[in-house]
Amino acid sequence: MGMVRFGSLRRLKPISPDWGMERGQPIDRYYIELFLAGHTSDIQGRVLEIGDNSYTRRFGRARVTESVVLHVAEQKEHVTLIGSLTEPDTVPAESFDCFVVTQTLQVIYDVQTAVRTIYSGLKPGGVALVTVPGISQISRYDMDRWGHYWSFTTRSVENLFTAVFPRDHLQIESHGNVLAAISFLHGIASEELRPEELDAVDPDYQLIITIRAMRPKVEL
Ligand SMILES: C[S@@+](CC[C@H](N)C(=O)[O-])C[C@H]1O[C@@H](n2cnc3c(N)ncnc32)[C@H](O)[C@@H]1O
Repeated sequence: MGMVRFGSLRRLKPISPDWGMERGQPIDRYYIELFLAGHTSDIQGRVLEIGDNSYTRRFGRARVTESVVLHVAEQKEHVTLIGSLTEPDTVPAESFDCFVVTQTLQVIYDVQTAVRTIYSGLKPGGVALVTVPGISQISRYDMDRWGHYWSFTTRSVENLFTAVFPRDHLQIESHGNVLAAISFLHGIASEELRPEELDAVDPDYQLIITIRAMRPKVEL
C-alpha cells in the first residue's frame, strides 16, 4: 500500500470548523440541495419547514400557497409555529401537503415521536422530504441549545420510518463516500471536489441519508 502522504490533512483541528461555509458550499448541502431539486413537485400547497423557509421558497416557488416555519423556541423572523415535533399538539393534524425537515432529527432526542408528528401533520397523499446526517461533525450551535444527539444510517432510518409509514411509500438513500466524508469533516467545500467524487456512493461511508416519505392517500 505504501506510505500515506497526509499533506495538509496531518492536523488536529479541521481546515474549516464552520462546515466549509467560509470556503464555499458545505458538502452536506450539496447532497441536500440535489435531493430537494429532484423533488420540487412535492414542495407545493401548504408547506412546513423547520427553522426558516429558504428551501420552501427556493424549491417550491409558485407551487407553495402557504409557507409555515416551525421553530422550537426563540422568536425568529418568519416563524409561524413555535413548538416541538415531540409535542404532537404543536402541528395540527392532516394539514400540510409537504414537510421539509432538513438536518433536524439529529437534534431531537425523541425521534420516534417526531416522525409520528410528521406523519400526523401530513394530509393524506402529502410528502415529507427529510435529510439526516450520517458521518458528521457535531453542530456546536445546536448542541448548546436543544442538543445534538444522533447520527443515522439507512438501517436506523428504515426502522424509524417504517414504524409509521408503509415501506412502499418510502425512498431512503445514502450519499457520500470516504473522500467526501473526510473532506466534509475538514470543512472542505463541495466546489473543491469533482462532481464524480461527490456523486460516488459507498454505502459503508454514509455522509447523509435522504428520505422521501408519503402518507398514503387512503389509510388501510
Ligand atoms: C440544524 S437546524 C436545521 C434546519 C435548517 N432549516 C437546515 O436546513 O439546516 C436545526 C433546527 O432544529 C430545530 N429544532 C430543535 N429541536 C426541535 C424540536 N424538538 N422540534 C422541532 N424543531 C426543533 C431548531 O429550531 C433548528 O432550527
